[in-house]
Amino acid sequence: MAKKNSSFVCTECGNDSTRWAGQCSACKEWNTIKEVRLSKASPAEKHAGYSGTQSTTQLLSDVTLEKTERLSSGITEFDRVLGGGIVHGSVVLIGGTPGAGKSTLLLQLIANTAEKGATVLYVSGEESLQQIAERAIRLSLPLDKIKMLTETSVQRICDVLTELKPTILVIDSIQVMHTESSDTSPGSVSQVKESASYLTQFAKRNGVSIFMVGHVTKDQSLAGPMTLSHIVDTQLILASTDDARFRVLRADKNRFGSVGELGFFAMDSAGLKEVKNPSAMFLNRTEKPASGSVVTVLWEGTRPLLVEIQALVTECQYGNPRRLAVGFDQNRLAMLLAVLSRHAGIFTASDEIYANVVGGIKVTETSSDLAILISIVSSLKNTIVPHDCFFFGELGLNGEIRPVANGYARLNDAAKHGFKRAIIPKANAPKNALPGLKIYPVSSLSEALTALDEIS
Ligand code: TYD
Ligand code: MG
Repeated sequence: MAKKNSSFVCTECGNDSTRWAGQCSACKEWNTIKEVRLSKASPAEKHAGYSGTQSTTQLLSDVTLEKTERLSSGITEFDRVLGGGIVHGSVVLIGGTPGAGKSTLLLQLIANTAEKGATVLYVSGEESLQQIAERAIRLSLPLDKIKMLTETSVQRICDVLTELKPTILVIDSIQVMHTESSDTSPGSVSQVKESASYLTQFAKRNGVSIFMVGHVTKDQSLAGPMTLSHIVDTQLILASTDDARFRVLRADKNRFGSVGELGFFAMDSAGLKEVKNPSAMFLNRTEKPASGSVVTVLWEGTRPLLVEIQALVTECQYGNPRRLAVGFDQNRLAMLLAVLSRHAGIFTASDEIYANVVGGIKVTETSSDLAILISIVSSLKNTIVPHDCFFFGELGLNGEIRPVANGYARLNDAAKHGFKRAIIPKANAPKNALPGLKIYPVSSLSEALTALDEIS
């Protein structure tokens, strides 16, 4: 049998097949399948000093443990998301929509590290040196410390790296890079994947920490889907919030730290500034407590998020009473009100009800059920829910309070932000108490309302 030396790869999704076809069987795109010749030796081996010796096995106990060396990025929020600083020889992919501030953040990062004496290199394949210099001047960064290169060939970049030996390298962006060993067009999934793995292998062998910029597609996933996530050590997303000034940096994957940490930034005329008190971002609560306002902890992607829910219940003067849910499903509101009348004996059939998730946030999960009902009850009875309380839990049709995912992380986050009391599902109550947080575990709506009477 002839030796297979070519493969057919879809340039859209990266699907690999043995023969050419007009339509990709995985993503159903037409005319995207290209033949890729498989080279005999990986080009990365040229730089890796591959000698062709036999591989040997090793016991884990024989591995000498070296302390993970970390370098501070000079940006506390960034260090926190990375798990305590930049790990020597690690590869970080930073994604975000255009204009999120990826290039700005990385330029600030390398300027900070260069000032501390690190050798840095910023490779730009998208913007001209003129544009970057103008930005650096606007941000008052030390121009004489930042080495720049405009290049899109991965091999040529690695040649420069071998000579310059930087500790920190920025690739802006990985989507425009290409490797000479692949026949596919630049920007295709297979090119991006090969370029990323080439650079990653280089980084591991030479102890360079690489930050690669990646663009995200409309559905917020990194272009060249999961392929890059497997290659890199850490995958960060810089996302815009509803308030256009703020940006949130979070880790989707991190081999050197937890993915629960978030970094908050504000974009102003002098670049990205750290936000020291991020809970204030979505919790713009008035000084004077008001009825109908409660706090819940949502789970947004990979992070907990404290949000305020407001309800207004008024008597309907004429016609059919209106029910309006802003930021969550209208049908969910109807269902919650039905449970409220059947299992708590609180009737709202003749009332107009408006419920709103503050900050323009869209709630897609059910964990806010309990908080929504409590805000309605609070407005209906005109009682104030104290500012240090929060609630989460899913409501069943039989009036039972069901547990939600990531309960402990939600509690922990709220406790960190100074909340003192929580009414939560019994199954989410942690075995060990969290310092400074009193928990009221409940298994039904009536128990939750009894607990509410106790704390209000
Ligand atoms: P940029 O870093 O170019 O975004 P990305 O690389 O993620 O596409 O930042 C783009 C936006 O940030 C741009 O719309 C202008 C804004 N910006 C400021 O508001 N202030 C600043 O100091 C800088 C440098 C950019
Ligand atoms: Mg950019």
